[in-house]
Amino acid sequence: MSLSQIARSLKPSPTLLLNEKAAILRDKGEPVIHLGGGEPKSKVPIDALLAAASHINTGEIRYTPADGIPALKKAIIRYTEEFYHRSVAPENVIVSGGAKQAILCALQAILNPQEEVIYPAPYWVSYPEMAKLCGAIGVPVLPEDGTFYPRIQDIEQRVGSYTKAVIINSPNNPSGAMYSEQFIADIVDFCERKGLYLIMDDIYHRLIFDGKKPISAYDYAKDFSEKSKLIIINGISKQYAMTGFRIGWAVANKQIIEAMTNIQGHQTSGPSVILQKAAVGALNGVQSSVESLRITLENNRNVMIERLKAFEGIHITKPDGTFYCFADFSAYDKNSNRLSQLLVDKVMVLTVPGAEFGLEGYLRLSYCGSIKDITEGIERIKWVLDPNSPNELYIGDRKLVRDWS
Ligand SMILES: Cc1ncc(COP(=O)(O)O)c(C=O)c1O
Repeated sequence: MSLSQIARSLKPSPTLLLNEKAAILRDKGEPVIHLGGGEPKSKVPIDALLAAASHINTGEIRYTPADGIPALKKAIIRYTEEFYHRSVAPENVIVSGGAKQAILCALQAILNPQEEVIYPAPYWVSYPEMAKLCGAIGVPVLPEDGTFYPRIQDIEQRVGSYTKAVIINSPNNPSGAMYSEQFIADIVDFCERKGLYLIMDDIYHRLIFDGKKPISAYDYAKDFSEKSKLIIINGISKQYAMTGFRIGWAVANKQIIEAMTNIQGHQTSGPSVILQKAAVGALNGVQSSVESLRITLENNRNVMIERLKAFEGIHITKPDGTFYCFADFSAYDKNSNRLSQLLVDKVMVLTVPGAEFGLEGYLRLSYCGSIKDITEGIERIKWVLDPNSPNELYIGDRKLVRDWS
């Protein structure tokens, strides 16, 4: 079949595939533990549900402006004031089908074929594929010092005549690393000086630990004109546990937003009005669920780190935020796809191979599930990998026998 070059070049989303795999195994009654997930398990805030339900009850469910309903833009403007200390106009805001669509639309608005977009590795799995969707080239930059914290000089060195944009995701999926204020200040300054677009993917910015506070790139910007190339991305998926609602947004200069609106208008005509109403409910409603989710995740992180530390040969960097830990398992297997497959085959624990995030030898383990899943999942992994494990493991009344060395 003659599919397009772009279609043939794309890889399916490994994390979405993993969710499907977990669902299939669960349907078969398998005692699967999903440490590969990317969504909190807490309930959607009641204000979001009521807002959506009340709009459904009107019986009038119509198209909306392609860039979002005024009430949601207003809520995003208020959010931007609170968390970014910046006043923006409705023309500076677009609402999209998740942060994912906001990022893709932004890239489609700014990238020409063959141009390059740079992002630090490890990186979110969708950035390279989104670059391909634009006919452009994604350029990962590995920190040379081997940490998860990129250095400005590593990025500077990779910038060339084709570089058009930089994407920064902090706190980072998959590493959980929150980059320093100095790094954010430096990257904002560097992109302004070089005339590069800077996309800040802030989707996890409120899910941070150890007393850290969200960082706003605007605090370090000098250019507040309509020529500013700073694009801020955020959304309700992670902080309000509303992944299924598919609402995210971008804040940027009017010209970028106008271009994104044209693109989105022809793609989807904008997100569903019901889901936008739910987002208004979440953003304007009682905020306690965000803090209680944050506290739960910090506690889960501590449990996961503790358990992993007791595991000889695994190197971990304590995550500053998100709900992921990116652990170095290379002492056990340098091929992360093979290792991840082994863990599913032997003990039904799902993890995401580091190779998907641009770093071999690592596995991404999520701590957005229950403490029981975290502790039992790591116990099972240990049983598979530790040659000193007992010969048998019981999962419920199922007996597993270690038939490998
Ligand atoms: C770094 C990062 N950016 C963006 C997204 C997309 O979020 P949304 O559900 O709002 O599309 C995700 C989701 O996993 C993510 O991890």
